[in-house]
Amino acid sequence: MTGKTAGSVLDDKARLVVDELYRRSRGQMLPAAVPMLLRAVRTRLRTGGWDTTQSPEGKAWLADKLVALEPQKAALCYLLCRSIGARRVVEAGTSYGLSTIYLASAVRDAVTESADGEQLGAGLVVGTEHEPGKVAAARANLQRAGLDDWVDVREGDLRETLIDLDRPVDFMLVDVWIPMALPALKLVTPKLRAGALVVCDNVVSGRRQYADYLAYVRDPKGPFRSVTVPGQGGLEISLKKTEN
Ligand SMILES: C[S@@+](CC[C@H](N)C(=O)[O-])C[C@H]1O[C@@H](n2cnc3c(N)ncnc32)[C@H](O)[C@@H]1O
Repeated sequence: MTGKTAGSVLDDKARLVVDELYRRSRGQMLPAAVPMLLRAVRTRLRTGGWDTTQSPEGKAWLADKLVALEPQKAALCYLLCRSIGARRVVEAGTSYGLSTIYLASAVRDAVTESADGEQLGAGLVVGTEHEPGKVAAARANLQRAGLDDWVDVREGDLRETLIDLDRPVDFMLVDVWIPMALPALKLVTPKLRAGALVVCDNVVSGRRQYADYLAYVRDPKGPFRSVTVPGQGGLEISLKKTEN
């Protein structure tokens, strides 16, 4: 992935930060490929599943890892936000703030390019992250990208930090450890407006662990219409059908 593609929807300031973070993410993941595979096999033998995020060993290893959304997916989120004019965005799983930079850019651009001109406070991304070191890094990265006025990074467990949200929410990114995906979505669902979009990462590579999430968003009697976009682990894009 080149920096150019990663940042094609971003301004120069944000692109510099994003490119640096993707380099750092690759630097963390490449040397870890073999140990990660061994950890996954051990987890599989112990639990029957491949999810390494819940064991003490996995949690300790992941505590300082970016595990960032791929640049094309992040850019797609920017475009989806822009296309629906999203100004109120929620992100479950902020990590170092990489995907947040794309979401905050979309909100800022929607506000500042609107007919009524710049209105600080007229748009906000609420991000949440439970690793304190990642929260500090995310805040610093958003500041360097010139986007800190557009984001409220809430530190703590999303089951607490996402209770208190203003409605309506236009867009939600679910990019969190898999067992937290459905609880996060269920918390935010009542706040999503009709026509809001929810993007959830890795639903193809993790389809067994995402079974409950996918059943919820695909339930014909439920609040969403939903489609899986394949490639790079897959994305689920879900449309909120009605206000309630
Ligand atoms: C896949 S990473 C997010 C990557 C980020 N969206 C990006 O693209 O840069 C998932 C993050 O969710 C955080 N997380 C996991 N469970 C959480 C919880 N219950 N509450 C808040 N954050 C959580 C993890 O610490 C991790 O940093």
